[in-house]
Amino acid sequence: MDFLSNSTHLHIFSWVVGIIMFLIAATQPLDSKGRKITKMVLRVFYILIIITGVALFIRYMDSNAALYGVKFVFGILTIGMMEMVLARQSKSKPTQLFWILFVVSLLITMFLGFKLPIGLNFFA
Ligand code: HEM
Repeated sequence: MDFLSNSTHLHIFSWVVGIIMFLIAATQPLDSKGRKITKMVLRVFYILIIITGVALFIRYMDSNAALYGVKFVFGILTIGMMEMVLARQSKSKPTQLFWILFVVSLLITMFLGFKLPIGLNFFA
């Protein structure tokens, strides 16, 4: 899977589009067609985020297994929080806590990603 892990571009593309799809889905009216379609597209992007993330992980984790492990967990957690917001919206339950958890896990995931050695290194 060399084409997936030679650079972080595909991974970045996947999570940027994923987050945009999530924000669109979350702000569409419940039961609207737009919400249904953006949620379907979002789920395809979850898969892309995970495939490209795992490919990078397998290839580069040896340099710092602990930090790569934490990045992995927070990446999955960020996706989990997006799903929690959407699921609770659908059930008309409060979502504030899960919005906060989404933002916090997103910031931690991005910080770790940019700190780790491959691709961009804003926090090296
Ligand atoms: C919404 C979820 C995610 C976000 C926002 C995110 C964000 C990022 C960012 C900002 C980078 C740095 C790119 C660069 O430096 O050029 C990165 C790299 C990486 N991500 Fe993710 N990611 C997410 C999900 C995942 C998942 C689920 C995994 C693992 C299954 C993963 C594994 C990795 C790995 C291994 C790297 C390379 C780290 C490095 O050495 O620089 N990511 N990610």
